[in-house]
Amino acid sequence: MSDPVPPAPRLDAFSLRLAAANALIRRRRSIKPAAMSVKRVEHEHLAAILENANWAPTHGLTEPWRFVVFTDEARGSLASKLQALYRDTTPTAEVREDKLAKLAETPLLAPVVIAVGLHRQVSAQIPELEEIEAVACAVQNMHLTASALGMAAFWSTPLVIYTRELADWLGWTGAGDRCLGLFYLGWPADETWPDSPRRPMADKVVWRNSAE
Ligand SMILES: Cc1cc2nc3c(=O)[nH]c(=O)nc-3n(C[C@H](O)[C@H](O)[C@H](O)COP(=O)(O)O)c2cc1C
Repeated sequence: MSDPVPPAPRLDAFSLRLAAANALIRRRRSIKPAAMSVKRVEHEHLAAILENANWAPTHGLTEPWRFVVFTDEARGSLASKLQALYRDTTPTAEVREDKLAKLAETPLLAPVVIAVGLHRQVSAQIPELEEIEAVACAVQNMHLTASALGMAAFWSTPLVIYTRELADWLGWTGAGDRCLGLFYLGWPADETWPDSPRRPMADKVVWRNSAE
């Protein structure tokens, strides 16, 4: 007698939604500007990505995320600013030419560079850490949306982004306003979607189910 046919997997709304979420979350990859093509990013795509940033969770509905979108020639101005800040903040003997070159080149390799900012509420009622966390959630929303569109995205945090001067230059002039990174966006140059390893989740979770 042949083996019984295994039961078909459940295809209810729950399992379908979970499968879609798993695929999106696990397929999101950091793809650096050097691996992006020169293809333009249409406004429609950019708008969809930014709109989803706005749906991040936010304690007290402060919505602290702010963005400055650099395209075309504006990327060159950003690159010059990053270079100047690196020179200004690094002791002369420690200035590395390769770092300077990278700061100059990288913004030009991606069609879109989005400066990610934190707008600090004046009352400072919500702890700053929670506002940073909310901005990180907004970036994750953007990254997931970009991945869903098949786009390449990368969150970069060279040390110069944390300078007061860069925040001011970006127009984030409030005392607690900060730049939290540069989000590079474009299309992958290569058809192979990269992999990224993770150590087992079991190593990172402790389960407690009894009173101690
Ligand atoms: C807050 C934050 C800052 C990051 N900054 C950098 C960075 O400056 N340089 C870099 O190479 N990767 C940076 N990354 C991306 C990580 O390298 C990347 O997420 C990691 O390698 C895992 O790859 P995956 O995103 O494809 O899963 C950053 C990620 C986060 C969340």
